[in-house]
Parts: sequence; structure tokens; C-alpha cells
Amino acid sequence: MDPSFRTIIEPFRVKTVEQIKFTTPDHREEALREAGYNLFALHAEDVLIDLLTDSGTGAMSAKQWGAMMIGDESYAGSRSFYRLEAAIKNIMGFSHVIPTHQGRAAERILFSSAVKRGQVVPNNTHFDTTRANIEYAGAEARDLVIPEGRQPGVIHPFKGNMDLEALRQTIAEVGVERIPMVMLTLTNNSGGGQPVSMANVRAVSQIAHEHGIPLIIDACRFAENSWFIRQREEGYADKAPLEIAQEIFSYADGCTMSAKKDGLANIGGFLALNDDALAQECRNLLILTEGFPTYGGLAGYDMEAIAQGLEEVLEEDYLRYRIRSTAYLAEALQAVGVPIVEPPGGHAVYIDAKAMLQHIPPAHYPAQALAVELYREGGIRAVEIGSMMFGKPQPDGSETPAVLELVRLTIPRRVYTQSHIDYVIEVIARVNARRDSIRGLRITHQAPFLRHFTARLEPLA
Ligand SMILES: Cc1ncc(COP(=O)(O)O)c(C=O)c1O
Repeated sequence: MDPSFRTIIEPFRVKTVEQIKFTTPDHREEALREAGYNLFALHAEDVLIDLLTDSGTGAMSAKQWGAMMIGDESYAGSRSFYRLEAAIKNIMGFSHVIPTHQGRAAERILFSSAVKRGQVVPNNTHFDTTRANIEYAGAEARDLVIPEGRQPGVIHPFKGNMDLEALRQTIAEVGVERIPMVMLTLTNNSGGGQPVSMANVRAVSQIAHEHGIPLIIDACRFAENSWFIRQREEGYADKAPLEIAQEIFSYADGCTMSAKKDGLANIGGFLALNDDALAQECRNLLILTEGFPTYGGLAGYDMEAIAQGLEEVLEEDYLRYRIRSTAYLAEALQAVGVPIVEPPGGHAVYIDAKAMLQHIPPAHYPAQALAVELYREGGIRAVEIGSMMFGKPQPDGSETPAVLELVRLTIPRRVYTQSHIDYVIEVIARVNARRDSIRGLRITHQAPFLRHFTARLEPLA
């Protein structure tokens, strides 16, 4: 692809199509009521453009489908496992590869084995399942992103970086024995899909290792992070994405991965580790809850799809198109006056609902109110990343709000074309024009963990 052309062209042609359904405003109103104003409860068929997540929603390539046909479904020692293991080792270099059915299974197995009650796990920003699994193990998940990462309007090339001084202070305050691992999430999903620089990965690794603490990378979007490093960090402009990824992982002791993102697969994940004893303990738990170590809850054909996906995700044309098309949406929203997290992340554009809906207090979930409005206006499903996801209910019935109130417009990989995105821009511009009339919401039902998935809400008068 010649980067001097202005038009983004998808580096693929379409071979199979899937119809999408147009709905009426009345239909959407009824669907919202039935879903308790929680977009997770909608029937996907009632959604025109689904930007809920980039997780498992991507389109697979002809090569991936072809590889699936030759998947080896042997219970033990599957050829497809060894192909997957080789693909992971080529990029990440860790000695042990443990397949799991998705990212959170890798997290649960790792934390059940390595994290004890009363311990603290620092991260730039924990993703919600990571946080929940650490808290379920009785430990504290502590977010140490740089201050710029908490301010949606501030421009910084690597807003996902960890605050190195805060990490040092945390280690001094908590004590080495109570920190089983330091984590870095690439890119930083909950903080706006923002990348972490190579210099920061290196420095975090150095600090952790000085204290004998392992560094574990949440690698969901490692390829997108590698592309940002190539674009924005001195010394990387001529390096291949694979080389950059290899350097990132060389500073770490292991990773958790949801292959539903930069594995370009619809399901799957893995845990990769260098520590032999820990890997053995994790494999024992894997056998108990996921499956034999050479499939870990995946079919042989899933492992083929991931192995092939890990190769394709590091192709330069793919990454250039991927990151450029996300920036295209961001630039168009800014042009119509919608406040977003700047600069845009790799897999998503985050609308700053706190800035857009200043009349709705965090206790009335402004980001959720905005997400509901995007569906009401044009059948677009986005996701709230704000107080509904991260607010902390207090014993007196009040709630500590989340730091940010964001609506994430997540772009599935290789699925929507530029005209789909142009429609999204038009819908959001219309909602923005009538933003003062939007009302907040109240939660009427919630679960004790990860409440945003199942909560029911009602509009406030
Ligand atoms: C940064 C990050 N970590 C972990 C996960 C969990 O992965 P999975 O959904 O495959 O369980 C996700 C999923 O969205 C994620 O974005």
C-alpha cells in the first residue's frame, strides 16, 4: 500500500458477505426497554453496526479458514498445538505455551497459581476481567498509568505508559514479598487503547527485575502496540512489526493473551511463561478446568486459526490500514465537535462522555446514557467504560465513580468498510447536536462482579 494516497483502502477483498438488519426507531425503543437499557442484553440481530467489542468479532482470512480444514483434533499431541506453539514462540519467545479458551481463562489460571490473598498487582491499567480475577484471588489490582493517561484531552504519544516513580513507590510501600508480579497491558484498553513505549516496557522490566519481581504482559493488542512504537518512537521506523514485538516480549517473563484480538480469531487465548515450576502448576490447573495441555479448551481448528492469525496480524499493510482507519473515525468526530480521548487508540475511538454530557453527573452514568442514545438514533452498539463498569458501590448506598466516563467505539478487525464508518460518524453527529436533551440512568439490578454485563437500568425523569 502506498502511504502517500489519502484514501484508506482495506488490504483485502470480500469473498463472503453477511447481511445486516435495518430496524425502525420504534423497534429499537422496544429493544432497549426489553434489554433494561443494557446494550449487552440486546439481540445482536437488532444491531446495525456492532462496535461493542473488537473481541472475537473479526473476519477471518481465506488462509485461516483453509488452515481450519486441516486442524488436527487429536486429544493429546495435536499437530495444530505444535503449530500454535511455534507461532507463539517465534513472536514471544517464552518457553511454555498453555492454550486456553480465551484471555480470562489464562488470567484465572495464572492468578490462582501465582497471586495470594493480601498481595498487590501493579499494572498500567487493569482490564475489567484482569481486575476481577485478581480481586477474586483476594489481591489488589493497582493502576499506575502516567497522569497523562487519565486525562482524555491531553496529547501524549504513549498514554499507556506506566508511571515509573509510582511503581517504585508501590514496591517500597507494599514490599517485594507482597507483589507477585508487575503487569503491563498492551495497548491499554481501559485507559483509551493507548500504547506503551518500548522505553517504558524496558524501564518497567528493569525496575521489576531489580526487585526479583516477574513482568507479565497482557498481550491482547501487542501488534497494534508494535505499530505505534514504529510510528512514534525514535529508532523503530524501519523495523518490522515482528522485530518490535519480539523486543517487547524479550523484556518480560510471560504473557496472558486473548487471541480474540490480535490473534485474529473468533475464540481462543493462551498463557505463556518462562518459569518452569509456575508453568507446571498452571498446567495442572488447566487440566482440571480447561483441558489437556495440548488443547486447553480449544478445538484443533481454533489453534490453526490463531497460529495463522498471529502471522497475518503483523503484516505491515494490515497494521497500516488498521491504525489509519481508527484515526479516520477519530478525526471525523473531532471535526463535528465530539470530544474524544486524544490521540485515538488502536482498536477503538473513545468518546469522552463526561465532557460531552456535562449536565449528567457520574452517579447517573453519562457514558451509558450516551451509548443508549447511539443505539436509539442509528442502531449502533458501543460500550460504556465508565462508572457502570468501574464505579465502586459503598456500604452507605453511594458509589465512588470511575476516573473516566468513556464510550468505546470498538472497531472489529477486517469487518466494516469506510462507508459503514461514515454512517457511524453521521449518527454520532446527530446525537451530539441534541446532547443537552439526553438524560441519565439508574441501576435497578446488579451482580457483585462485572456488573456491567448483566445490570438492568431505567431512564431518569
Ligand atoms: C486488555 C484485555 N485483557 C484481557 C481481556 C480478556 O480477554 P477475553 O475476553 O478473551 O477473556 C481483554 C478482552 O477484552 C482485554 O481487552
